[in-house]
Amino acid sequence: MTKPMLLWRKKEFPIVWQKEFNSKNNLHLEIGFGDGRYTAFRAKQEIANNYVGLEISGSSLYRALKRLNDEQITNVRLIKVRADFALKNLFSPNTLSSIVVNFPDPWPKERHEKNRLLQDSFFQLAASRLKKGGEIRLATDHKKYFEFAQTESKTSKLFDLVEKEVPEAVFETKYALKWKKQGKPLYYQVFKYNGNQSPEYKALERFKEMPHSVLEGEMPERFSFSKQVIKYGLGHIVLHEVAKSYDYNDETLERYLVRASVDEPDLNQQLLVVIRRKVGREYLVRLESFGDPIITKTARGAVHAVTEWMLTLPSDLKIKERNY
Ligand SMILES: C[S@@+](CC[C@H](N)C(=O)[O-])C[C@H]1O[C@@H](n2cnc3c(N)ncnc32)[C@H](O)[C@@H]1O
Repeated sequence: MTKPMLLWRKKEFPIVWQKEFNSKNNLHLEIGFGDGRYTAFRAKQEIANNYVGLEISGSSLYRALKRLNDEQITNVRLIKVRADFALKNLFSPNTLSSIVVNFPDPWPKERHEKNRLLQDSFFQLAASRLKKGGEIRLATDHKKYFEFAQTESKTSKLFDLVEKEVPEAVFETKYALKWKKQGKPLYYQVFKYNGNQSPEYKALERFKEMPHSVLEGEMPERFSFSKQVIKYGLGHIVLHEVAKSYDYNDETLERYLVRASVDEPDLNQQLLVVIRRKVGREYLVRLESFGDPIITKTARGAVHAVTEWMLTLPSDLKIKERNY
């Protein structure tokens, strides 16, 4: 049976969903599926459709995966990734029939409104991936969020507000059940894409080759290290710490691991850069494949940052080769 979890980091962008599902059925997206109750309910109810679910919470993903596996549902793929990144990079224009957002985090404080998902920029991005007539379907218990989303959709000029009955499946989410029990109202709105020109979004530039550099010289016996922040490409790199690794079978194996984070406008990655003694007095500095890094220009900068840091050490280290 096909596993519902999709390892997006290993895929070419954008994903060819027809190939992924081995079917041309309509494709629907759900953002923030939580424990996956709605996802499972709907996927079983509408088996002639394919569903992709996005979540940023690992524990929610685990619960939803278990549910889909237990219920042997095959027309759903779940991805642990942020919605804006996924829409830009994993979906081609004109591919989605609908985008469902059930009970988005409300960010009730005024100063946190900028964190709300359904704002003008989201409507524009969503329109660029929806088919003409495709829908964004919002369910929320939060009146202010509801009105906020309506106003933002009007600002985008890309959607018509349509009144529709709340589908049965919406009452099956964890949050809907909770709010219903407390007798709170449910607000439901369908935003229909009117086909007006939406912006074009550039997909992330990815590189196949693992970046590396080679330095000649000797790493000093002792050195101090403090956290470093380096601007590179469209973002920046933070080098957090350096650890020396030991191999009990081979005492001559000299290796250092540098923990780095790479922050770009759409993507944040935690990476490891390895410094390994090659032959004689040469060190290879390269990005570790651990964690399946997405090799962007800024991610290549992690190797640059470590290389530059090595050159500041009290040693005779010199650059022999740079490949990033
Ligand atoms: C209030 S919960 C609702 C969960 C579920 N839809 C339900 O009704 O039970 C909001 C969910 O959205 C997820 N989330 C928040 N921002 C997200 C984003 N940018 N991309 C994907 N998921 C997101 C959160 O992790 C959380 O599980």
